[in-house]
Amino acid sequence: MTMIQIEHLKKAFGDNEVLKGIDLTIDKSEVVVIMGPSGSGKSTLLRCLNFLEEPTDGIIQIGEYQVHAGGKIDRHRKKVIRELRKKTGFVFQSFNLFPHKTAIENVMEGPIAIHGTKTEEARTIAEALLVKVGLGDRCDHFPAQLSGGQQQRVAIARSLALNPLVMLFDEPTSALDPELVREVLLVIKSLAEEGMTMVIVTHEMNFAKEVADRVVFMDEGIIVEQGTSKDIFLNPKEERTKQFLYKVEAVVTE
Ligand SMILES: Nc1ncnc2c1ncn2[C@@H]1O[C@H](COP(=O)(O)OP(=O)(O)O)[C@@H](O)[C@H]1O
Ligand SMILES: [Mg+2]
Repeated sequence: MTMIQIEHLKKAFGDNEVLKGIDLTIDKSEVVVIMGPSGSGKSTLLRCLNFLEEPTDGIIQIGEYQVHAGGKIDRHRKKVIRELRKKTGFVFQSFNLFPHKTAIENVMEGPIAIHGTKTEEARTIAEALLVKVGLGDRCDHFPAQLSGGQQQRVAIARSLALNPLVMLFDEPTSALDPELVREVLLVIKSLAEEGMTMVIVTHEMNFAKEVADRVVFMDEGIIVEQGTSKDIFLNPKEERTKQFLYKVEAVVTE
């Protein structure tokens, strides 16, 4: 079953065409890792997926919610975009937690504000999610009292609290000290094992090898090639992929 369908997606900022026609279909429970040089359009692609950026052209469908770029801006379209966003968890490089709320309050906020969940029920949901990301004993800590890895795990729990159909991750470990990367990747891996549909922009090759059903290599606004992590890392076909892997000194353990 298809969960995400991207058709001839284009995005320009003025004269700068950043996405030049992306087609990508992602199945339910599939984990897709996107790699590519800085500036290749990876973040823009994720942001277009949930209309944080309005695409210039193309069609996005997530679950039952389909939006055409440049469609007539009416109430119906706005409503579909709102629904599509609610069903799309987004975790960024920077954790973006509310600094004056505790971990559990950060996680409770979405269900209360967006789903109208009652406070006590939201607390129960949030506590279970914090336990799930390994932070059951940190519920009442403020972000400043947590490590970067712990904050990012709270951010993941916060996204999950809205019960998303898909999770999008944009370099979720890039801002972390190396020793904190693993704990975040393990949480993402556990979501993969539970069957969450995910699109993950990351340069963590070994992680990609562990969790990705598919690796997509992007450059200059197009998908250059895609395949299993083995195809892409060990047997890349395209020169641009080879050069990128060479530059990042990809060390992939067998
Ligand atoms: N809001 C914006 N306004 C203008 N240009 C942008 C904006 N966001 C991204 N870009 C441009 O789009 C290109 C791709 O950026 P991005 O999607 O962030 O790439 P990546 O995530 O692969 O590094 C870059 O040239 C960047 O300068
Ligand atoms: Mg980016």
